[in-house]
Amino acid sequence: MPVHFTTMEHLSEETVHQLVRRAINLKNGERCRIKHTKYVANLFFENSTRTKVSFEVAEREVGLKVIPFEVSTSSVQKGETLYDTCKTLEMVGVDVLIIRHPQNDYYVELDGLNVPIINGGDGSGQHPTQCMLDLMTIYENFGTFEGLTVLIAGDIKNSRVARSNAMALKKLGATVLFSAPEYWQDSTLGEFVALDEVIDSVDVCMLLRVQHERHDANEIERFSKEQYHQQYGLTLERYNQLKDTAIVMHPAPVNRDVEIDDSLVEADKSVIFEQMKNGMYMRQAILEWVINQNNQEV
Ligand code: CP
Repeated sequence: MPVHFTTMEHLSEETVHQLVRRAINLKNGERCRIKHTKYVANLFFENSTRTKVSFEVAEREVGLKVIPFEVSTSSVQKGETLYDTCKTLEMVGVDVLIIRHPQNDYYVELDGLNVPIINGGDGSGQHPTQCMLDLMTIYENFGTFEGLTVLIAGDIKNSRVARSNAMALKKLGATVLFSAPEYWQDSTLGEFVALDEVIDSVDVCMLLRVQHERHDANEIERFSKEQYHQQYGLTLERYNQLKDTAIVMHPAPVNRDVEIDDSLVEADKSVIFEQMKNGMYMRQAILEWVINQNNQEV
């Protein structure tokens, strides 16, 4: 059975720290080169800019051969199942698959395959590589996770980023608070609080995108953009209440003036674009780890 990278659930604290350290070292100039020819394919059944592009750069940086694959021109369009598409790639010799898919836990049906899978996001389930680059960014800023207070605010119910980060950060010793409109809350994740009650005391203010694509087709817009921003977004007033040492995060893409005021996206406390840069290094570290775990010579 291959070792996959599909959820934060099974990743030990030791592995998380190892990957964070490795990604920071790669950012500081260390190199990872995979000597033997290995093929990788990126299967994106949902749109992506950051995850797809940073994987493609990371793959080339470590010396992997990237096999072009576009869902829109593949036999997926003729009705081929996800399993059959992945099995085909395995049989022609692809060594690692990166998959983003709208179905939660899509990887469960791929259990019988003999090729490692890195999850680029499954529905509202998990986004482990985003979580890892978020952890790297937090660690770079604070040097620890222990004792930090992380506020995750936004469309929590529909967010795979919230699920992965909540799981990992709690395991690593952080306190995780959530803030969301009532109908986007998920009480199984933890404590929901009012943004204005905690904004001046958090170390990390992690904003999440309003996930229109996951909302019920019949759900009428519950707010105007302005109403959402005023009630649940990072306004200038709220930004000014943050601690001097606090950081502002967002996995992006950002809905400017909705989750965050347009002028704050690149403000001093914002690490939003640094997160994207870190994604390329963290994805190199993850590719290296997955290949090592599967006893494929690096
Ligand atoms: N954060 C993130 O997953 O962005 P993309 O959807 O652009 O990959």
